[in-house]
Formats: sequence, C-alpha cells, structure tokens
Amino acid sequence: MEDLRTKRKGKILAVKDLPTLPPVLDEITKMIEDEHCTPKQIAEVIAKDQVLSAKVLKMVNSPVYGFPRRITTIQHAIVLLGFNVIRGIIISTSVFDVMSQAMVGLWEHSLGCATISKIIAEELGLKDPEEFAVAGLLHDIGKVVIAIQLPEEKEEIQKLVAKEDITYLEAEKKVLGFGHDRVNSWLADHWNLPLPTKVALTYHHNPESAEFYEKFAKIVHVADFITKVLEIGNSGDELLNTLSKKDFVDIGLSFKKLAKIMDRVLEDIIEVLTFIPK
Ligand SMILES: [Fe+2]
Ligand SMILES: [Fe+2]
Repeated sequence: MEDLRTKRKGKILAVKDLPTLPPVLDEITKMIEDEHCTPKQIAEVIAKDQVLSAKVLKMVNSPVYGFPRRITTIQHAIVLLGFNVIRGIIISTSVFDVMSQAMVGLWEHSLGCATISKIIAEELGLKDPEEFAVAGLLHDIGKVVIAIQLPEEKEEIQKLVAKEDITYLEAEKKVLGFGHDRVNSWLADHWNLPLPTKVALTYHHNPESAEFYEKFAKIVHVADFITKVLEIGNSGDELLNTLSKKDFVDIGLSFKKLAKIMDRVLEDIIEVLTFIPK
C-alpha cells in the first residue's frame, strides 16, 4: 500500500508537466521568493505570455475580486492584489483549463467558494480579503489534479460516491488512501504557496486540526459549506456535512453578519457564474 501511495504521489506531482501550466509559472515562483524583484519585473515576465495575461486580467476584473473592469495592466493587478494572489489565479485558471468542460461544476463551486470566502473576510473586517478569495479558488484543486493525473482512480471514486452514501473525500480515501486535502498540501509545497494558503487548502475539511492559521482555514470551511448549501456548482457529491456552531462562532460570525453575507453573495453570484475564464 505504501509503495502504491508513493507512486500515486509521484504521479500527482508530475503535474508540473501539464501542458496548460504556463512555463513562466516556475520563473514567477522563483521571482516572488527574491525580495529584490519588483512588480514591474514580474509583470514583464507574465506579459510575455499573452494568453496568460489575458486570463489573469479577466479574472482580476471579475466580481470575485471586486475590481470590475478597472485593472488594465498586469503590473497594476500585482500592485493591487499582491504576487501571491496573481500566482494563485495563474495556477487555478491553468489547471482548470485542462478540465474546463468535464469539471465545469467544480469550477463554479470554486468560484462560489472564492467569492464567499472574500465576502466573509470583508464582513469580518480582515485585511487582504483577496488572499481568502484565492484560497477559496484553490481549495479543491487537488480534486482536479487527481482527475488529470489519475483518471482511472477518479472514475472509481465517482462510482463509489454514486453507489455508497459517502462523501467525495471519503471515497477518495477509500480508493487512493488519501484525499484531495492531502494532495492540496503536496501541491502547496510544490508551488511554494504562502503558509496561510497552504493551511486553508490542507484543512478546509477539518480546520480544527490546523496548528496555525486556524481561522483562515475555518473561513474557507464555512465558505465551502455555504457554497454547497446554495447549490453553487458541483463539488462531486450531494452530501452536506454539518457545520459546527463552534467554527461559526470562532471566526466571529453572528446571525446578523451571516444574513448580510448571504445578501451580498446572492447579489454577486449570478455575475460570478456567468464568468468562465478562457
Ligand atoms: Fe474539499
Ligand atoms: Fe469544496
């Protein structure tokens, strides 16, 4: 079993060879780590790839980020949203591109979770709500990478979900020996994502297990739950886990705040869902 698991992990991490992952991604990752790099230098690297630049601009001007049609250059996007947000957008749009038809429901689920994570962060008065949006956008990226790199196992997972009354995560664990949450943590290391994002991606199903940035993980957890309650997109199963009252209270939510969040979500979501980056 351990051998098979290592083999599968290797296959998953071979995601770096995906044809839709832009070659500039590695370059950007290195540049972000170099504190002397300026937004202008990074913007120049992204701008070399015109398709990629168009995708990034489309996403940053979408309602998910709340700057509709106001960002016209990559450099401006980096200054407004930060390197990590731009890199997260590059990863998510590139990975989802491989599966855009087959997994359109999951893409909608991810856009929904991104929008709701950001709205929650804003309503709680937290700084950098865009970082929460990017975590929401990437929170189920492991599912997509499993589907691309291990297609036979993905079929098996889907069959198991349909046959037994279990969640997608439980089915993944039965078939693979690990879930997309674990895959997320490998991918976060692989792409050198910042620690809060890694924690949110790894613990979005069990935020209480997070050692650091528990609140960050809980916000994405609650956003994931609301996305499912509102039936935005499709995350792979129909089962709704219960949301613990503690998670809800721990992040500082009240029913009054929740009502306001729901109002804002319902206002934004139709526009978000008409937005499919290509
Ligand atoms: Fe998930
Ligand atoms: Fe999800």
